Amino acid sequence: MPSILVLNGPNLNLLGTRQPEVYGSVTLAMVEQACADHAKSLGLSVDCLQSNHEGALIDAIHAAKGQHQGIVLNAGAYTHTSIALMDALISVELPAVEVHLSNIHAREPFRHVSYISKAALGQICGFGAHGYVLALDALANHLKEAGAE
Ligand code: DQA
Repeated sequence: MPSILVLNGPNLNLLGTRQPEVYGSVTLAMVEQACADHAKSLGLSVDCLQSNHEGALIDAIHAAKGQHQGIVLNAGAYTHTSIALMDALISVELPAVEVHLSNIHAREPFRHVSYISKAALGQICGFGAHGYVLALDALANHLKEAGAE
């Protein structure tokens, strides 16, 4: 069964209480449970990880090689700053889908730039927690088309 790493970056541990008017009231635990449930229905398994530290996120991406067949990544604010995370994604050559709860293109100009997009199959943003489910659908379809299932 293909396995997907669902990786969340800085401040996403605060989901549910952090700016609910922007990010919604769903907690990270609820997001991760929804991912596990939806993955099961797609014939996938998930491992979920969150870190506030750039290096730990890079280590998790490196460790995904050989363990997972794809990555769902919400890199939080590192999206807009981290060439190192982009390089890590490019290095492991795993299909990745970028997720943001908010519509980053409708927000401040500094959020319009994503280094992650340069290394991802595509980006899903603006659909709140449902974006993670959409990302799993996109990865499942990609893996199917690539013949990995
Ligand atoms: C975010 C958007 C980022 O700009 C922000 O820094 C986050 C969350 C989102 O999910 O909408 O931490 O990635």
